[in-house]
Amino acid sequence: MCGIVGYVGKKDCSEVLVDALRKLEYRGYDSAGIAVFEDGKIKVAKEKGRLDDLVEKMKREGVPCGHIGVGHTRWATHGVPSATNSHPHAGGDKVTLVHNGIIENYKELKEQLISLGRVFKSETDTEVVAQLLDYNYEGDPIAAIKKTLAQVEGSFALGILFADRQGELYAVRRESPLIVGVGEDETFIASDVPAIIKYTNQYYLLEHDEIALLSENGVSFCDLEGDKIEKELKVADWNQEAAEKGGYEHYMLKEIHEQPTAVKTTITPRISHKLPCLEECGVTAETLKDINQIYIVACGTAMHAGMVGKYVIEKLARVPVVVDIASEFRYREPLINEGDLVIIISQSGETADSLAAMRLAKKMGAKTLAIVNAKGSSIAREADMLIYTHAGPEIAVASTKAYMVQISVMYLLGFLFALAKGKIDEAECMRLTEILTSVPEYLEKTINDVDKDCEDISKHLLEADSLLYIGRGLDYALSMEGSLKLKEISYIHSEAYAAGELKHGTISLITEGMPVIAVATQVSLLDKTISNIKEVKARGAVVILVCDKEIQVDCDVADYIIRIDKIEECLMPMLAAVPLQLLAYYTSVHRGNDVDKPRNLAKSVTVE
Ligand code: AGP
Repeated sequence: MCGIVGYVGKKDCSEVLVDALRKLEYRGYDSAGIAVFEDGKIKVAKEKGRLDDLVEKMKREGVPCGHIGVGHTRWATHGVPSATNSHPHAGGDKVTLVHNGIIENYKELKEQLISLGRVFKSETDTEVVAQLLDYNYEGDPIAAIKKTLAQVEGSFALGILFADRQGELYAVRRESPLIVGVGEDETFIASDVPAIIKYTNQYYLLEHDEIALLSENGVSFCDLEGDKIEKELKVADWNQEAAEKGGYEHYMLKEIHEQPTAVKTTITPRISHKLPCLEECGVTAETLKDINQIYIVACGTAMHAGMVGKYVIEKLARVPVVVDIASEFRYREPLINEGDLVIIISQSGETADSLAAMRLAKKMGAKTLAIVNAKGSSIAREADMLIYTHAGPEIAVASTKAYMVQISVMYLLGFLFALAKGKIDEAECMRLTEILTSVPEYLEKTINDVDKDCEDISKHLLEADSLLYIGRGLDYALSMEGSLKLKEISYIHSEAYAAGELKHGTISLITEGMPVIAVATQVSLLDKTISNIKEVKARGAVVILVCDKEIQVDCDVADYIIRIDKIEECLMPMLAAVPLQLLAYYTSVHRGNDVDKPRNLAKSVTVE
């Protein structure tokens, strides 16, 4: 999972490449590089670290100057982050390329190439493709690409410069995403739309094993046989502002504030005559009526959205739901029966494990329903049914608004399921749907209400080595996400625990001063949760309680209380998510971390 870009046009290529790479740094940021045709030669600049380190290096050593080139921002998989392992990689004199993905058979290929006398500079799988392509190239780029693709296994998107084809940039993909942007007198390749949105909102989606040729004559497409392909031009419905920070200090904060709009944009078109309506997404009451087993498969935050879905669907529709981590699901020989529903949730739509899990489910005869944010992504394209979330681009690695829209869809589905199964009547479904439509307003208010408290309280978390999140029912499902949010950006260890389970072992971790974040929004479970809070308090924990404004709690139950508005009990996670996001955000800020690009992570995990 890296970001690749390419440019052919009249502008200063290095400037465009660096600018485009900045929008892709969420895909990886441990090294970066560009290659540009300069006076008939390919000039490469690459450096370990952030894009700014590359920019500094180019200031010192010279910026490649030209109008055609490729660029790369890396999240290391094969070989440590270093200038040598950074892309672009040259395969010899003839080929220089950038790569996103994994070459699975790189070891075998490398051995073969070494036996042919080829010498490798880096530890990367990418250099193997570069060397192989260079070896296969005899003046015909398409023939060389075809021959090379027949030998490599894995996932890849490649941007390729052939040294003797100075006016041309080639691109090809298998599995990994790649778009080809078309502006006025200029063309681009990119791993994702935000990279090019400043220049154009028009683009083509490159499909598996399709080749794009970009030159001053524009762009053309062909298959591996060289046969021309006509493709449909797409128009991105994002603008540049949507992909930039808009005055906020960090993308994460901006995205937290975008949640009310994101939820509104996601649910409004899916409500008709006051009832959830997902027919346009291929989901009808008829389809749902016959489903007796649901699996929700996803990774990270998306999986946590699935946990909320499980509680909601099981409670309202009385259909069993198994939530599975995609990387476990795909290898544990899941017991899927024909007709089961497998729901895949993914912001990026490109997460390798989630995609593979979905393919497996399809193969086993399940109906697949994808809930995806990135339009035209692989998961979106391959699912039987598809509900797009309309969060807009999410740039911060820590997911916030994508989670919020994912759970809003879980509610729509839960209400519809319950109606289809006859577990609630139309009037009840309308009542719940109406409350869901009021959530954006409540969200707006909650963000403003709790922001200051969260910033203040976060200061008490800064020195913690470890902390616990506890809750019951939906509060426990939400706690999982709260805990992940905190650890990924603050680097403080935390764990989410079902409050009632603590006394079976984990309570022994509680020591004087250890912070415990208790979520208690489920009024029906309140007394039990309060008892569990008292258990940790009695053992010295510093308790931060998230609860609604109407709950009466004794003043000695918690050290700090964050109050949110009270709405329908089952919808409370949508509001309670906000303080958990803001606590994580401010803790990260106060610890001086890079909030939007936490260490070791990348936004889109397109490798296993
Ligand atoms: C959460 O903040 C993370 N960025 C991560 O857990 C993410 O949700 C996970 O990698 C799944 O990504 P996806 O939604 O794009 O499939």
